[in-house]
Amino acid sequence: MNIERELVNVVKKEGANRRVAVISDGTVARLIATRIVSVLKKNGLKTELFTFPAGEKNKNQQIVTKLQHAMLKRKYGRDSLIVALGGGVTGDMAGFVAATYMRGIPYIQVPTTLLAMVDSSVGGKVGIDTPFGKNTVGAFWQPKAVIADAAHLRHLSRKELISGLIEAVKTFFTSDRHMLAVAQRLDLDDPFRTANELQAIIYRSISIKAAIIGRDERESAERLVVNFGHTIGHAIELLSEFRMPHGYAVGYGILVESKIAELLGTISSDEYVSIRDHLKRFGITKAPLSKFSIARVLHVAKTDKKSKSGVPHYVLLSSIGSVYTKGGVYAYPVKESIVRKAYRTV
Ligand SMILES: NC(=O)c1ccc[n+]([C@@H]2O[C@H](COP(=O)([O-])OP(=O)(O)OC[C@H]3O[C@@H](n4cnc5c(N)ncnc54)[C@H](O)[C@@H]3O)[C@@H](O)[C@H]2O)c1
Repeated sequence: MNIERELVNVVKKEGANRRVAVISDGTVARLIATRIVSVLKKNGLKTELFTFPAGEKNKNQQIVTKLQHAMLKRKYGRDSLIVALGGGVTGDMAGFVAATYMRGIPYIQVPTTLLAMVDSSVGGKVGIDTPFGKNTVGAFWQPKAVIADAAHLRHLSRKELISGLIEAVKTFFTSDRHMLAVAQRLDLDDPFRTANELQAIIYRSISIKAAIIGRDERESAERLVVNFGHTIGHAIELLSEFRMPHGYAVGYGILVESKIAELLGTISSDEYVSIRDHLKRFGITKAPLSKFSIARVLHVAKTDKKSKSGVPHYVLLSSIGSVYTKGGVYAYPVKESIVRKAYRTV
């Protein structure tokens, strides 16, 4: 597929006279966005590029305000359109700008990291981090389209590739155990050598997430499943001051939350060991957890969006490939003593 052609067609379908604001971080601007903006312009679309510095620490209110003011200064109206071109940080933040600019304008997601392709670009959750926690301010705002080109992943570092792969594997732990074998076959040093596997992983992750969102867009029940590993994961990501890539933090979250499931008896010890072994391939092991005290992790976890009255809730596996659910409930409070034990004994 020619992604530029596809993007031109989708934008024109939304209205050929719309002004188009492409939002990217500095890295993606240099690698990809400048070329895409010039293609849009050549096709008669009034397009400008708006950039911000790369990195999770910039997914915040100050940058959102800067982007909104830059668009207001250039007199972008309600009839304009945003293209969120980049990784999950860009998608979340540009989507949030779209949700709030002039009370909401349309946007298109063009994810360029594996993580954004398999997870964050799908589902319409947009938002920013605050000093109080990850994604603590945001909205549900569905993109008009999601257009991804796996060729963009050629620029991606091994670390960023693995970060995305961990989110995909998370989806397979909760929803499709057979895909774990496919993920195992992916060449982590040269994913394009195993292009069929790469494509299958992207396709299946998106299909699973889209199906869940089709049943529960507002995360009132089943959509909570996609948060497996995220109660602990988000706390670690925040405590690392966002130096740890999102997928890795989720990997540590999966490790601890699977151990919680084992301690509670919802999965067997053999299944826990199998999950631990899968994660080891991505470099997720017990050792780095000692950098983050469990007391601080538990403190931050209280601000997690699944918390109720300050009590963190956890998505628990019932086996590899399915989650524990009873009476339509998908996330559960767990005694602090169990969480502490899991953290100590993974
Ligand atoms: N909205 C959701 O449902 C959802 C789901 C999962 C994760 N997220 C969010 O996604 C974010 C993490 O996403 P991410 O890992 O993509 O982070 P990111 O957007 O920061 O991208 C990671 C790095 O890769 C660079 N990059 C992007 N595309 C590239 C390419 N093609 N080649 C080379 N470098 C490239 C970026 O400049 C950045 O430095 C987190 O903020 C997380 O909260 C959101």
